Amino acid sequence: MRTLLLWVARNTWLRERIPRLRLARRAVRRFMPGEDPEAALTEAVAFQRQGIGTLFTRLGENVVEPQEADATADHYLGFLDRVAALRLSGELSVKLTQLGLDLDVELAHGHMERLAERAARDGGVVWIDMEGGAYTERTIALYERLKAQHPNVGICLQAYLRRSAADVQRLLPLDPAIRLVKGAYNEPETIAYRSRRAVDANYAALAVALLEARTAGREVRIGIGTHDVKLIEQIAVHADALGLSRQAFEVHMLYGIRLDQQRRLASEGYVVRDLIAYGPAWYAWYMRRLAERPANVVFALRQIIG
Ligand code: FDA
Repeated sequence: MRTLLLWVARNTWLRERIPRLRLARRAVRRFMPGEDPEAALTEAVAFQRQGIGTLFTRLGENVVEPQEADATADHYLGFLDRVAALRLSGELSVKLTQLGLDLDVELAHGHMERLAERAARDGGVVWIDMEGGAYTERTIALYERLKAQHPNVGICLQAYLRRSAADVQRLLPLDPAIRLVKGAYNEPETIAYRSRRAVDANYAALAVALLEARTAGREVRIGIGTHDVKLIEQIAVHADALGLSRQAFEVHMLYGIRLDQQRRLASEGYVVRDLIAYGPAWYAWYMRRLAERPANVVFALRQIIG
């Protein structure tokens, strides 16, 4: 089912047709408050009142025209102004292919620089999402270059990739901001762990490496991007054993998933951020959310039928 849904996510014929269905638009609402950026901001205000920060992403990837990348960057610049005006603890999480990475690495780099500069004005950070395996090296290389000029940028690393342990060590000297996730794409055995157990074990090992770097004096900002509460608790135990406080890492979760746990963790003193997505280009992203938990397909069908 997971492989099928990840194939559906990449299928251009379906990508053009499914989002036109009103019923599909209704089902996607479980994972995003609306296509309109204002809906995301309204939710963020409500989260802030509950002690939960926000990460924002305007959905979209693999743009094919430079103008699309320019428009995305311009949108984000205006959006950051709205975040600042509302005094929100809100940060951006963006995909390099929505900023033109497929067209020209310099285009994507230039846009990231503009976003980082604007975010720095209000003390904010811009996070770079990690896309499929074809982009890993380019994304990390761009991050290294960017981080040398702009301290306020973060990157996502995927625990299912065999290379991630080396990538953590490669990035640590930069005092990075790293968000660890399990990984949402369909990667081959040659580059990725395929069993849940192996991915979880690697996730824990990477998290411990980041925590140990903190105890060794590195200024690493750690985002634990998962809804796997057992894994989060395991990481918290490690942090405690290392003499680190609950604030030594942040928990990042997606809008619509395990909100009860987001609230609980925030009330227990953990730093929690909810990633809110918006925008009309939700198709591939939504399919990846369905693939993560096949039960979501039944849920989506129920919403469509009922
Ligand atoms: P796991 O899949 O083991 O799920 C743990 C539990 O969480 C499940 O038992 C279920 O209860 C709940 N759950 C998880 N996913 C759910 C879903 N879709 N619907 C309902 N319940 C669900 N990936 C990537 O490749 N690049 C990236 O840049 C990012 N960015 C990112 C940011 C943030 C903030 C998060 C939380 C996640 C990502 N991801 C990502 C996605 C990530 O790789 C992974 O696919 C999902 O987080 C699902 O895996 P979990 O870690 O939650 O664990």
